[in-house]
Amino acid sequence: MKFNIAVIAGDGIGPEITKVTTDVLEAAGAKFGHGFKFTDVLMGGCAIDKTGVPLPDETIRICKDSDSVLLGAVGGPKWDTLPGHLRPEKGLLGIRAALGLYANIRPAVLFPSLINACPLRADIAARGIDMVVYRELTGGMYFGERGMREGKYGAEAYDTEAYSKFEVERIARLAFECALTRKKHVISIDKANVLDSSRLWRATVAEVAKAYPGVTCENMLVDNAAMQLVKNPSQFDVIVTSNIFGDILSDEASMVTGSIGMLPSSSIGDSKLGLYEPIHGSAPDIAGKDLANPIATVLSAAMMLESSLGLPDAALAIRRAIDAALLKGFRTGDIMSAGCTPVGCKEMGGLIIAGLK
Ligand code: IPM
Ligand code: MN
Repeated sequence: MKFNIAVIAGDGIGPEITKVTTDVLEAAGAKFGHGFKFTDVLMGGCAIDKTGVPLPDETIRICKDSDSVLLGAVGGPKWDTLPGHLRPEKGLLGIRAALGLYANIRPAVLFPSLINACPLRADIAARGIDMVVYRELTGGMYFGERGMREGKYGAEAYDTEAYSKFEVERIARLAFECALTRKKHVISIDKANVLDSSRLWRATVAEVAKAYPGVTCENMLVDNAAMQLVKNPSQFDVIVTSNIFGDILSDEASMVTGSIGMLPSSSIGDSKLGLYEPIHGSAPDIAGKDLANPIATVLSAAMMLESSLGLPDAALAIRRAIDAALLKGFRTGDIMSAGCTPVGCKEMGGLIIAGLK
């Protein structure tokens, strides 16, 4: 089959990592008899520079007409002083909302070959880390009412956290469905000792849980969760949480696995169309230097093959090729350890492609 993929390379290291990833997709496609038509579209800082807005209408239209969307990263210091509605990040929030992508799925796995990159004590790392974060993606304070007003101490800015039962139910259901395929254990993370929105979150998750009697459901307060992720990460299987808590905790989850440069994500809604991106940012400090780790983006493409395009064999082949490159000791700078061979972004891509042949 031939698939139409919209590619948002974005800013910073985005173009380097998406180039490697589309090359890997081509190679995987050739191996399994599928083709891809990649269409480059603008979003983020590069879109602001060329069109004046972070998310041109044409980008939304092309993404909606595609089978899937691959995204590098957006943002950078050049655009940091622009007003909120014109920042590159606004493009990312806009595309998530425009495509109805309410679930952001972020698997955090400690690769056995990268155990030396794990910053935790060896006995903790030895217990293994294999969790998946289900982050709500189109609600909460990212999209709540916001503005400026006169407050007790003069002018103040505010953002509001609001969740409806409907929004919690749909992300919770996806998390429980996923748990059925794993260790049947969901931990819902909130701040129900303080926030009303979290109390509704917790009550709604409990209701959804009733439909999954085979799945254990626990609640954890977000401050405790931040601690537990470094103290005992092996206790986590499926995490479900709000947009803001998921943003923060997934960075933490990624770092305990060794490097943020390894973690993929998928953002999905009710249709097959998904958006696949690494969880890291645009890393402007290393952009254009061929130093970035492309693995998070390549793993995101593997998630795309599996979830949006129905090609689990091609996804598995890519994962195996990555494992093989790591087992042979090839490392980008972020995951480098003594005795390994340093490689750049392109070379890592070449190794993955060679592993597919
Ligand atoms: C992420 C990023 C984004 C987010 C930013 C760039 C808007 O940090 O995907 O985790 O906060 O969702
Ligand atoms: Mn983030």
